Amino acid sequence: MKMKRFSLTLLGLFVILSVVLTACGSTPTATPAQQPVATEEAAQPTSPATQPSGGKQQVEVFSWWTGGGEAAGLEAMIKVFKAQYPDIEFINAAVAGGAGTNARAVLASRLQAGDPPDSWQGHAGQELIGTYVAGNQILPLNDLYESEGWLKVMPETLIPLISQDGKIYSVPVNIHRANVLWYNPKILKDHNINVPTTIDEWFAAMDALKAAGVTPLALGEQWTKMHLLETVLLGTLGPEAYNGLWSGKTDWGSPEVKVALENFAKLLTYANSDSASLSWQDASQLVVNGDAAFNVMGDWAEGYFRELGKTPQVDYGWAPVPGTSGTFQFLSDSFVLAAGAPHPDGAIAWLKVAGSKAGQEAFNPVKGSICARTDCDKSLFGEYLQSAMNDWATNTVVGSLTHGVVANDSWKSEIDTALGLFVQDGNVNNFQAALVAACKSSGPCK
Ligand code: GAL
Repeated sequence: MKMKRFSLTLLGLFVILSVVLTACGSTPTATPAQQPVATEEAAQPTSPATQPSGGKQQVEVFSWWTGGGEAAGLEAMIKVFKAQYPDIEFINAAVAGGAGTNARAVLASRLQAGDPPDSWQGHAGQELIGTYVAGNQILPLNDLYESEGWLKVMPETLIPLISQDGKIYSVPVNIHRANVLWYNPKILKDHNINVPTTIDEWFAAMDALKAAGVTPLALGEQWTKMHLLETVLLGTLGPEAYNGLWSGKTDWGSPEVKVALENFAKLLTYANSDSASLSWQDASQLVVNGDAAFNVMGDWAEGYFRELGKTPQVDYGWAPVPGTSGTFQFLSDSFVLAAGAPHPDGAIAWLKVAGSKAGQEAFNPVKGSICARTDCDKSLFGEYLQSAMNDWATNTVVGSLTHGVVANDSWKSEIDTALGLFVQDGNVNNFQAALVAACKSSGPCK
């Protein structure tokens, strides 16, 4: 079965990568730190010495879900938590910034200072194993998996991505898809354009749109460019060679990778010129507002579109990123238990909700993701998410770079630096050479 193949390939990959990782340590992507947002529940980070006020128990949960679509998903799960644990005060320590670019820098400094939140959001895969497990910053949860019966309801294929040496380190709350092409159906119809299925069709469609004065592609700040890059690598190379990039089997210096990078370079020419100053929400909103035709973004965009009151198939349509049909490029948000958590009981209570059917059914339809659990009620989900469930169950599954699955933090950070330079100078040869070097210094390439 495809999923089994994925599991075995990635398991092997992670064994290799975790060895590499342990050798090279981890460097969080450095971005300016921000203060936690002020929300109804927000409070200043609690120091390990802080005692619950008036004997009231607490839990401090750290994430980057503050923005459009994302905060609402988190709030839905907090509501379930509050109903089940009315005596535990929930401290929402979310830090703004898509893909956790700011939050992860804040978290890294808190962890370094010995001031961990009780539980935080981490991606299944190398982000979790290569950073937090490697740094002994989180505790295994096998007992909780046992008592909650989670091994029976969490996908078999996910467990290796959150485990090391038989210990399970996080509670996955969802499955997101990265390789989604969002489009404005009216713009395509007005210009007689079919939804592209290959990269060449996509270029032809965008040439026609550009000639007609329409912005073909909406793009945002740098991490959204890495997100676009990973989908184009997949769309150009196919799933096997894409997986090989992360296992060391595919040569980053090969002509095939060069074609992918040239495709990426060409794609950037179709994008809005102010991308550097736009969040992912700003960029995806261009599409639903009719100001741009296409946007590549994970399916959290769907949660945002719904929050904006937009209608599926009318205000927005979706398809796999051209060239990636039949492949589901995935990521999974999960929550961990901090080593030295100031409120371990509160953290366990939160994790129980995060892994529960009620918690996941409340969270995912709003967040724009499907449950990590396999037993959620499908009828709670809209048309897009039902299609994602079918694809998750039947497609070849590969992992995301930008969202922590396939590369450890130091490798990802080197790729990010190379990407930043490339966005400035547009030199494909230099970009490719830097990617070859990154795989040698932080990845599995010899
Ligand atoms: C991802 C995360 C998603 C969503 C997205 C945009 O890294 O897994 O849940 O939050 O960033 O912020």
